[in-house]
Amino acid sequence: MNQSDTIQKLVSLSKRRGFVFQSSEIYGGLKSAYDYGPLGVELKRNIAAEWWKSMVHEREDVVGIDASIMMHPSVWKASGHLAGFSDPLVDCLNCKERFRADKQPKVEPGTEVVWVKGGKSSGEKVKGVVSQCGYVCPHCSSSQLSDERQFNLMFRTSIGPVDPLDEFLNEVQGKSLSRPELRAKLEDAIRTNAIYLRPETAQAMFVQFNNVQQTMSMKVPFGIAQQGKSFRNEVTTEKFIFRTCEFEQMEMEFFCEPGSQKEWHTYWVQSRMDWWKRFANDKSAFRDRWHEDSELAHYADACVDIEYRYPWGWDELEGVASRTDYDLTQHQKESGAKLSYFDQQKVDPATGKPGVRYLPYVIEPAAGLTRACLAYLCDAYAEEEGTDAEGENKTRVLLKLNPKLAPYKAAVLPLLKKEGMPDVARKIVADFYKAGVNASFDEQQSIGKRYSRHDEIGTPYCLTVDHQTLSDQTVTIRDRDTTRQERISVDRALEVVKARINES
Ligand code: GAP
Repeated sequence: MNQSDTIQKLVSLSKRRGFVFQSSEIYGGLKSAYDYGPLGVELKRNIAAEWWKSMVHEREDVVGIDASIMMHPSVWKASGHLAGFSDPLVDCLNCKERFRADKQPKVEPGTEVVWVKGGKSSGEKVKGVVSQCGYVCPHCSSSQLSDERQFNLMFRTSIGPVDPLDEFLNEVQGKSLSRPELRAKLEDAIRTNAIYLRPETAQAMFVQFNNVQQTMSMKVPFGIAQQGKSFRNEVTTEKFIFRTCEFEQMEMEFFCEPGSQKEWHTYWVQSRMDWWKRFANDKSAFRDRWHEDSELAHYADACVDIEYRYPWGWDELEGVASRTDYDLTQHQKESGAKLSYFDQQKVDPATGKPGVRYLPYVIEPAAGLTRACLAYLCDAYAEEEGTDAEGENKTRVLLKLNPKLAPYKAAVLPLLKKEGMPDVARKIVADFYKAGVNASFDEQQSIGKRYSRHDEIGTPYCLTVDHQTLSDQTVTIRDRDTTRQERISVDRALEVVKARINES
């Protein structure tokens, strides 16, 4: 399959089958915002549930929280996001598109380039020379570009009943002020009630360190996990749901004793890699990329990107960073609260007495949930050549999703809409509903079309009620990946599907 087509095919399948829709589509759509449809939300929730199970429920050293999206503005001052969470932004003076300087391929300064005036597909050609910046416009190849300016990625809004614009107008009315003075007054007015949509879920785990540690009597090493929405005013949104302004993260801050961080970092890289591969068909499409020292943030002593081979190449899925005690130190300084940990089991080397107080170091596995949906959809998408019931050549499109991630675990299909078959099928599907196992009752169209539909949405098992069912109380169970069918008793349908899902 042509890899460059895969994303287009996935976008189309996602819309056609109710996985992902463009946000506000009837109004022409909102750039880079997406809605998860009935099947997309099931996939997303299943991935999130597997992450929570592995990170929280299967461990005694990690607990979860669900913090608010809005936090005190000082959080973002302490974390460094207010001052430093920005991308270098450039405007093309030719086609007027805006882009991120740091994402452009390098072009030797002095290289001659040609582009079309206005960024049109044809027209007057213009020649130029690449400046010291070492890149050209990614849209029209022009070297006529604005200077880079830093653009903060946090979404700013205001809290409370005071409208900052009214405050501003009251302040400046009747005064003759220059543009920089007006700008400064406006910034002042906005700053008073400004709050930010969180650009990551991580900070709440640092800010709530004391509360969680004390209420749950957690002993270092321990972790705090969280899943939820994050927001970044990304300059470049791209590649379907890969990079969006609103997205979901699954992050965990693991607090450990200084000196043990290397061991824990290696442990979490391995553990997270195993988790990603557990649900994938092509395990070779995941790799770890260890950051060079020159790439590391100033507070990190190691960082690994877990990357996936998307149709356009290797790109990030999760970062596992060793963040030292930077975050707790910063919040301690800014808030004045003591965020250290008193370890009663240890002897203080300075005094020889039991008990040592220290600021824990942190290992942070930070994954994207919406990005995980994309990676697993890419991994699952398959096309197989074959013949249909009439002997015609046909391409079978299927999503080979791991059954644990599949939106429906089973489809229950009466072969005909008569002879009591729908009643039997309804009884079977009712058992699934009662057990909380998501299943679909489907009696529309021919059985062949229904199998195709369920292949395409990744339903791992189809249970068909046919003539034989009426005489011997058995149904066929069809496996999505092999298309093989066997007969099982109606009474055991739920148990068999549950057992196969457990084994997957
Ligand atoms: N607390 C650390 C942190 O947020 P990050 O590498 O910026 O680290 C972690 O984000 C993960 O969140 C990324 O690996 C990616 O999967 C996801 N992510 C980040 N920005 C995203 C965006 N704009 N759209 C979708 N997912 C995003």
